[in-house]
Amino acid sequence: MPSDNGALLSVRQLNKSFGGIKALSGVDFEIPQGVLAGLIGPNGSGKTTAFNLVTGVLKPTSGQIVFRAVDVTGNAPERNAELGMARTFQNIRLFRDLPVIDNVMVGLHMRNGPGFWSTVLGLPRASIAERNIRKEALEALEVLGLADKAHQIVANLPYGDQRKVEFARALATKPQLLLLDEPTAGMNPQETADLGKTISKLHKDLSLTVLLVEHDMKMVMGICEELTVINQGKMLASGTPQEIQNNSAVIDAYLGRRREKHDA
Ligand SMILES: Nc1ncnc2c1ncn2[C@@H]1O[C@H](COP(=O)(O)OP(=O)(O)OP(=O)(O)O)[C@@H](O)[C@H]1O
Ligand SMILES: [Mg+2]
Repeated sequence: MPSDNGALLSVRQLNKSFGGIKALSGVDFEIPQGVLAGLIGPNGSGKTTAFNLVTGVLKPTSGQIVFRAVDVTGNAPERNAELGMARTFQNIRLFRDLPVIDNVMVGLHMRNGPGFWSTVLGLPRASIAERNIRKEALEALEVLGLADKAHQIVANLPYGDQRKVEFARALATKPQLLLLDEPTAGMNPQETADLGKTISKLHKDLSLTVLLVEHDMKMVMGICEELTVINQGKMLASGTPQEIQNNSAVIDAYLGRRREKHDA
């Protein structure tokens, strides 16, 4: 039985190589229950790889992932979803030709759908489950201010709204841990600020545990309670936003990059 130190998620000595590329080496972090945590680092530092390892999309080269006191290292993504993980992707992954509501319902079907055959046969239990799923999907869309667009085709929505549909799909499953990979990518500053407020509100209202990957530092510093910083696949620092802003390793890395740019 792995010890979890009371954390919802613990990542220990995580390593991932792609051929000769060491995308992550010796990464450690913990997310306590109910915390809005951020994972930050420059482009290519391994943030999405960390998400893929935690959710089971990729298997680690070595290391351990403990979620809800269960060793989930190497689990399939479906199993981790059943255990309560939900994520959004850096690049939107939606069925563009389907209505918004169907896209959100897909996430719920994956979690607790009535089963393929009962749906095909139109059994009553299936239709009750289907109605519940529709209701839950609508609730998630309402939270993100998209209920009035539920029946629009995704491809016809502005980009910012498409990102929110992804978010709603993850949220509708009522996850224990919500992993958001650059949810504001491609949004304008107003949409970014609004989504930051929504994330913060959801975290507070639902005591939702969130791991956020985000490049908008104003938002990260404004809403995250704890941060983990990685650089070139390695741990650089962890702490509160204020601690991170005063951390000498972070300041050195930032100044180093500025110097590189200046010299280039
Ligand atoms: N499937 C893969 N095959 C080979 N190399 C990969 C693969 N996925 C990621 N990498 C490499 O691993 C490193 C980390 O990539 P990753 O996408 O995790 O970074 P990131 O921090 O999410 O970057 P960004 O901020 O640009 O999204 C990079 O060098 C990347 O090229
Ligand atoms: Mg990424």
